[in-house]
Amino acid sequence: MAVSFDANHVRLAKTLLAYFGGAFVLYCLLRLLTAIFAIFIQPGKSLSKFGPKGSWAVVTGASDGIGKEFVYQLAAKGFNILLISRTASKLEEISKDLEAKYKIQTEYLPIDFAQNLDEDYKKIATRIGVKDVSILVNNVGKSYDMPTQFLITDETLIQDIITVNCTATLRVTKAVVPGMVARKRGLILTMGSFAGLTPTPLLAAYSGSKAFLTSWSAALACELQPHGIHVDLIQSYLVTSAMSKVRRTSLTIPNPKAFVKATLGKIGVYVGNTAGVVTPYWSHAVMAWALENLAGLGSATVVKTNKTMHEDIRRRSLKKQEREAKKQ
Ligand SMILES: NC(=O)c1ccc[n+]([C@@H]2O[C@H](COP(=O)([O-])OP(=O)(O)OC[C@H]3O[C@@H](n4cnc5c(N)ncnc54)[C@H](OP(=O)(O)O)[C@@H]3O)[C@@H](O)[C@H]2O)c1
Repeated sequence: MAVSFDANHVRLAKTLLAYFGGAFVLYCLLRLLTAIFAIFIQPGKSLSKFGPKGSWAVVTGASDGIGKEFVYQLAAKGFNILLISRTASKLEEISKDLEAKYKIQTEYLPIDFAQNLDEDYKKIATRIGVKDVSILVNNVGKSYDMPTQFLITDETLIQDIITVNCTATLRVTKAVVPGMVARKRGLILTMGSFAGLTPTPLLAAYSGSKAFLTSWSAALACELQPHGIHVDLIQSYLVTSAMSKVRRTSLTIPNPKAFVKATLGKIGVYVGNTAGVVTPYWSHAVMAWALENLAGLGSATVVKTNKTMHEDIRRRSLKKQEREAKKQ
């Protein structure tokens, strides 16, 4: 039987379309305004909520780049600092400088997390002892020297990436959390990456390790929230550092100082849909929002574009390596 539409049906359809269309536009506008508010206006939780001045912050990867900047900005706010990374001489120099500048206490532990030694984690537990550790910054990270296809990536490098980025982060957190639970307060920040936000070809192991941290951190946040402990994964696009090999800042690439200042000001401010993920630097947050809402985080187009981008970086890195080899 043929269905016939009269003028009333057409009017009804038009009205429904207008209502649904209007509601959809309103929803999108609301999402956009919420994101703009979170990125540019909403302040983060105050650090004093997690522990008083004179309590301790533990920072891994503390002797360079983003970790070193965390150490300085937390010391300036009156926290004592336990610094951990490999190079004792760098740690000693930074510790002395912090004590002189900010009149705080420091301790340091030279540890190579790639070794994954039980005795190193015992040393960490001993140093933490009865200290009032109110903040843990899981910053240490290992990446590739240049983007490389998984098939030709060195096995040791893959192992180190997983051990340093994942295993060390979990083991250090395990050492710190019991004290925080006992005191019913604390803050745990873990460095994520855009490579964990969208699958990143030619950085596959690093990308996977950061995606692992994103899920782990969000799950931990939910478990520890009833104990008064706040857990955030810190999402970041490029920041100038030895690891990124980018020296010049730009609109989308801050230096560690600006990045850490933004991070400490945006604790608990969420822009995207993933629980417990903070994208503190404003231009990174705009990029992450656009990726999530316009392109789709793991969409085929995004992953393919990412691949092309990293193949290009690899080509340029290989050419640079060739030029430098010729000079010698
Ligand atoms: N820079 C970026 O563009 C960017 C973007 C997104 C995410 N991230 C993440 O941010 C974090 C910090 O990166 P960054 O750029 O600041 O790196 P960085 O400048 O290379 O500094 C790395 C720090 O970790 C220490 N470290 C390296 N390997 C270690 C190991 N096996 N055991 C113990 N300590 C070790 C280094 O000191 P020693 O050499 O003395 O050990 C140094 O203090 C990482 O988790 C990284 O994945 C960085």
